[in-house]
Amino acid sequence: MRVLGISGSLRRDSYNSMLLRAAAELLPPGAELEVYDGLKAIPPYDADDDVFPAPAPVQELRDALATADAVLVATPEYNASIPGVLKNALDWASRPHATNPLRNTPVAVVGASTGMFGAVWAQADARKILQTIGARVLDRELPVAEADERFDAEGRLDDPDLREVYAEILAELAENVAAREAGLARAA
Ligand SMILES: Cc1cc2nc3c(=O)[nH]c(=O)nc-3n(C[C@H](O)[C@H](O)[C@H](O)COP(=O)(O)O)c2cc1C
Repeated sequence: MRVLGISGSLRRDSYNSMLLRAAAELLPPGAELEVYDGLKAIPPYDADDDVFPAPAPVQELRDALATADAVLVATPEYNASIPGVLKNALDWASRPHATNPLRNTPVAVVGASTGMFGAVWAQADARKILQTIGARVLDRELPVAEADERFDAEGRLDDPDLREVYAEILAELAENVAAREAGLARAA
């Protein structure tokens, strides 16, 4: 199972990027994490540019999503919602609506913030947007609050309770992938 990880932060020392990378060692056996790093190159969404062929960074994002079995989004909270760059990428990914590469893809959302609530509003908004796009979004959240105290010097998530919940969420993501594949096999 190939999980495409998307961090909503462009910041070099981003806690959300650390959180995303932490998934690599918490995923169930047989699953591997591929981190998407093209967010900064995605142009602002313009329907006039949303033609064939798509801008190269957009096509790369759509291809990465289309070939992933599942997607893991780690989002910061900016002014009580998700960062504009992440929303912009999801807008590109949502087109064409009927056949977009996120449709029916199992997706989990996690988030870290330096505040006290662990980006819960951003995670809720990300889930709402991804549901609108047609993804199979897990009804789970991982609020990593006070993120500046949750990672060790190597950038490893060092809170055992958070690691346990994170592993549960990732196991659920894998179960969703298996359920989806079983459904597809039955339909074939
Ligand atoms: C423009 C901006 C808005 C922010 N708004 C919020 C917010 O609404 N809630 C919150 O908990 N943190 C907020 N923060 C703080 C972020 O949670 C913090 O910068 C976090 O480290 C960003 O994630 P990153 O480390 O992955 O870059 C904001 C930060 C920025 C730059």
